[in-house]
Amino acid sequence: MQLTPLHIKGGRPLAGTVAAQHSKNAALPIIVASLLSREKVTLHGIPRLSDVYTILDLMHHLGTQHAWVGENSLELHTPEILNTDAPYALVSKMRASFIVLGAILARAGRATVSMPGGCAWGPRPVDQHVKALRALGAEMTEDGGNFDARRSGSLSGTFQFELLTVGGTHNSILAATLGDGVVTLENASIDTDVVDMIEFLNALGADIQGAGTNTVVIRGVEALRGGEYTVIPDRIEAGTFMIMAAATRSRVTLTNIRPDHLRAVSLKLQEMGVEITEGEGTVTVDATVRELRPVNITTQSYPGFPTDLQPQMSALLATVPGTSVVQDPVYPDRLTHVAELHRMGANITVSGYTQVIQGGALHAAPVKAADLRAGAALIIAALTAESETVIDGVQYLNRGYERLVERLRGLGVDVHQPDMALAMD
Ligand code: EPU
Repeated sequence: MQLTPLHIKGGRPLAGTVAAQHSKNAALPIIVASLLSREKVTLHGIPRLSDVYTILDLMHHLGTQHAWVGENSLELHTPEILNTDAPYALVSKMRASFIVLGAILARAGRATVSMPGGCAWGPRPVDQHVKALRALGAEMTEDGGNFDARRSGSLSGTFQFELLTVGGTHNSILAATLGDGVVTLENASIDTDVVDMIEFLNALGADIQGAGTNTVVIRGVEALRGGEYTVIPDRIEAGTFMIMAAATRSRVTLTNIRPDHLRAVSLKLQEMGVEITEGEGTVTVDATVRELRPVNITTQSYPGFPTDLQPQMSALLATVPGTSVVQDPVYPDRLTHVAELHRMGANITVSGYTQVIQGGALHAAPVKAADLRAGAALIIAALTAESETVIDGVQYLNRGYERLVERLRGLGVDVHQPDMALAMD
């Protein structure tokens, strides 16, 4: 749905406390993982985001009944898999939905899932997903833009990923959880979202060892029971608020967070001169103490600095006098924010996946988000600019930030979305 633009008047500090939402990128695979059980599963901490609604549409097609049983609580029930395909119309809306392949394959013995294709900031390959499933005994064929996966028995064997992939690790674990085989995944992702899905599956009776290490061993079980689970807090959403506080030279406290999941962000902000105080499930970011310094950043898989905060950090560094160098080898084309930040006066030179940023003051301008995290970067830039910035492409923000306008207002931001009531009709 097209939404009306956000109008933000910046140039003043934020203040107060904001509670982070629960993790989008942990919730999505956990919702998919519920497909492995015939029983009812209740999930708490599910953010009401458009990506969640997209995966629920796909799950409905596969045979899942769902009901919201609280503001962020969701009941899911898949007594039978009714369809074993995930069509392009649904997969192309959200590339992450490719991981339904592993879950459908585990439950139904075959799956046909559309190839995810590229996204706004470049290709999203799935070669590691396919190689892993093949190595573990699945028959994978590619035809007419679809992957067709079949297995005659349980998956078993060892696969070593060529690189760290969150989605590839999710997909392989999902495919191997049911049955009587033993699967070892080496060079597996240690991302918080992988650990959360493993803990969820184990809570339903799966036998998966090694969560949070590079070697994950999955011993197939006959069936999973139902159960209840609460998703971890969203470190990317929380990190976005932390960067926002730094960019506006403010003091803001975040609650409902895991400070250990945010260490890379906290360390980088501290290096810039921001005071970070960690509490029990909280962090206070104080950027009022001293002038901020430029820094260099290279994105990495968890626990390194996340690519999902690269555009936001680039916007912050565009306001910090001096030269910063930001490199995003994880997603080398994740640069749609740059041209828009140029419109606000940012001095950023791009060469390959490297941005050389000469910081200074930004000014308001009409801008347009082309993807979720670029949208967050534009909000951060707008908050630093005097007078009103109008941000278009707001529908992308709804993919990852829950009740954003309301929560920005809670921190004292002057933000409005004219004619929203009309647009919702
Ligand atoms: N890669 C391959 N081959 C593969 C899979 C991945 O070459 O088969 C490469 C990718 O091109 C990338 C790197 O491996 O360079 C890491 O990709 P990964 O598979 O880890 O990413 P993902 O699982 O597709 C998730 C998040 C992304 C986040 C990345 C990286 C979800 C739903 N998505 O994607 O989140 O950028 O991990 O941390 O969990 C976002 O929230 O804005 C977002 C895009």
